[in-house]
Amino acid sequence: MTRPEMITCIEDLRQQAKRRVPRMFYDYVDSGAYTEATYRANERDLARLGFVQRVGRNITGRRLESQILGAPVRMPLALAPTGLAGMQCADGEILAARAARDFGIPFTLSTVSICSIEDVAAATASPFWFQLYVMKDRGFIERLVGRARAAGCTALVVTVDLQVQGQRHKDILNGLSTPPKPSLRNLINLATKPRWCLGMLGTKRRSFGNIVGHVSGVSDVTSLAGWVAEQFDQTLTWEDIGWLRRIWDRKLIVKGVMTAEDAQAAVDQGADAVIVSNHGGRQLDGAPSSISALPAIVAKIGSQAEVHIDGGIRSGQDLLRVRALGAHAAHIGRPFLYGLGAMGETGVRRCLEIIHRELDITMALCGQTDIAQVDASILAAADLPAGFPHTPLTD
Ligand code: GLV
Repeated sequence: MTRPEMITCIEDLRQQAKRRVPRMFYDYVDSGAYTEATYRANERDLARLGFVQRVGRNITGRRLESQILGAPVRMPLALAPTGLAGMQCADGEILAARAARDFGIPFTLSTVSICSIEDVAAATASPFWFQLYVMKDRGFIERLVGRARAAGCTALVVTVDLQVQGQRHKDILNGLSTPPKPSLRNLINLATKPRWCLGMLGTKRRSFGNIVGHVSGVSDVTSLAGWVAEQFDQTLTWEDIGWLRRIWDRKLIVKGVMTAEDAQAAVDQGADAVIVSNHGGRQLDGAPSSISALPAIVAKIGSQAEVHIDGGIRSGQDLLRVRALGAHAAHIGRPFLYGLGAMGETGVRRCLEIIHRELDITMALCGQTDIAQVDASILAAADLPAGFPHTPLTD
């Protein structure tokens, strides 16, 4: 058994998760749409942003704390909504929500989670965020929003980039379903994952907790692709975001914008924040990386709403890079899911510790002591988008 302190980076968690999680659920996380070009671009474009090393400054007393939508956070990071987190390990959403709560950052529960809104609320007794997919049955959506309100959720994250699903080849080949079908191939694979199986035997949560039992007339309640094709509303427009704004009186975050124009439309409908996101490269393959889309969106709406980002963030260094380019906060999906698959709640905690420490050390080596003061001057000018304002640090 690997001790948490022997896990030194997110890649260690990924490798451990790959060994411990059944193939169909590991592949579900570690894949993008079609050629996976956008999935790769997210990480690649972040890694290209070099730092400026600065020395000869007093770097004690560093401050990483920040605020997201008015609430204090230990660092400007949130756990992104991710489908099927409770299939990375038993009760995964509850464990991740607890780790986020204890660490001091927000956790976002996905519509297509395994643990339900009520499960997470009961197990954490602490506010979390709820992510909404807009489905055709608006009565169901109103009930879902009402459940999030009753559970004390403080923000609604409306995802707007998955009304149809980008094809992920591995999910088709693996026959992704929850719970897994008892095929020979699955049974052989499950036999090599005893810890995972033991965990699953100890929980009753093995299907889509927010949905199963709450809607009728669905042909296959075990298939995510089936849900999306049958239930997700392709008529969704900005007016629907306005409708959600009217029925939800707490913070509203719109996730999945990649252009300044769409970001402005979200703000015009009353969004408190937008998340610059290509859904981790899982939707429109060929879309640019989210970091490359960030500066234009910050320039357009940064003074009207918070601009957040996800996609490709694998370290505290990446978190610092997105802050330097103007993101107020970042969201991580795969890194915490690898943590869950590797070591459950301990793995998510380890993921957050790793990112926090990397952020702290990198700030120090860039001569920075306060995350609120970090700007593009910590990045190598040559790596910045053309025309991006870069004011070199002066002493
Ligand atoms: C759902 O959110 C997915 O990306 O699979």
